[in-house]
Amino acid sequence: MTILFINIKQLLQIREANVKVLAGKEMATLPLIENAFLLVKNGIIQGYGSMNELTEQKADEIIDCSGRLVLPSWCDSHTHLVFGEDRSDEFVDRVKGLSYEEIAQKGGGILNSAKKINQISEDVLFEKSVARLKNVIAQGTGALEIKSGYGLTVEGELKILRVIKRLKETFNIPIKSTFLGAHAIPKEYKDNPDRYVELIINEMLPRVSKENLADFIDAFCETGYFTPQQMDKVLKAGKKHGLIAKVHVNQFNSIGGIEVSVNNKALSVDHLEILSDKEISLLKNKGTIPVSLPLCSLFLEIPYTPSRKVIDSGLPLAIASDFNPGSAPSSNMNLVVALSCIKMKLSPEEAINAATLNAAYAMNLENLVGSITVGKKANLIITRKLDSYQQLPYYFGDNLVEQVLLNGKTV
Ligand code: NIG
Ligand code: FE
Repeated sequence: MTILFINIKQLLQIREANVKVLAGKEMATLPLIENAFLLVKNGIIQGYGSMNELTEQKADEIIDCSGRLVLPSWCDSHTHLVFGEDRSDEFVDRVKGLSYEEIAQKGGGILNSAKKINQISEDVLFEKSVARLKNVIAQGTGALEIKSGYGLTVEGELKILRVIKRLKETFNIPIKSTFLGAHAIPKEYKDNPDRYVELIINEMLPRVSKENLADFIDAFCETGYFTPQQMDKVLKAGKKHGLIAKVHVNQFNSIGGIEVSVNNKALSVDHLEILSDKEISLLKNKGTIPVSLPLCSLFLEIPYTPSRKVIDSGLPLAIASDFNPGSAPSSNMNLVVALSCIKMKLSPEEAINAATLNAAYAMNLENLVGSITVGKKANLIITRKLDSYQQLPYYFGDNLVEQVLLNGKTV
């Protein structure tokens, strides 16, 4: 089955297969072809070029993209998509003046979500997650990571991870699964958080590993959550089960999480709203990619990651939605791209690179998705009529996605 896309106004993010991640100045370029064609065979990118080079228009299906841009689907490397109920009541409290931390201290926040997960069945949780994932895909995301972390009991965490596994089996898109048992300290362990860390290491992890439910291991290293020492223990235990570290650090406070992450060879360090120059230096040449989550900064009114500094120091950067019911109830990656330009002063080229190839790298999916590359999956966005990719962040908050394709097929 061949599909030929013709008259593409701009075909974006064209890369050779050996380009895995973009760092520093490399992020400033977005390779493209104007007036292009793209050939897809059996769901895989087969070729591309300028329309002038297209000698015969022969394929099982021809899609005319006149006036439209075509780009690889967004890659969303950080989501908490599997949750029970929304927390719009807490949102109203915040609008009225309470802070995220004050709400958490009142028993809201992550513990509130955990209570809800443990009250519903796996099937109900699955159905809710299916609906959310459909919405994620409709907005142009073609690969994503999903975390547990709203169970905080052995059965609750397993329930979420089993739902993620079912999503992997149900949807034909790359999904990576992250075990985040160390997301918050349950009330019962408030006076002895180390005992909860032991529960994670001795009871949760072996079960997660036995059922082969996770690719990555995460911990929320933050004042009032997990210390760097506790995170270190969790990451080391995860490694013994073959799980790669991918962590939440420096959201509200800098308490030493970056150093521990780098020492544990984390694939990514996510959030980084509070980030010193010294910590930026710590990340250099370590293979750990910084990930910024601008929807969380917008929604909680906290600082944005100093992403300009991160890129200017020569590091790579990925951006992700952090889609979750507490700090970022949106999975709109186009808005993530726009906010990265508006609030973090990324150029459109840098933001699109951060949301595609670099985001794929942040999930170990760079060989499969994230660029227009021969041999990669044809997970694609066809935009509505636009003049240039600069208009993607410019028309912020608008739905610019006209058509979404997964494995070459229109969704
Ligand atoms: O990435 N910071 C920790 N975890 C999530 C928020 C979780 C929640 O509030 O439910 C985050 O922002
Ligand atoms: Fe998160």
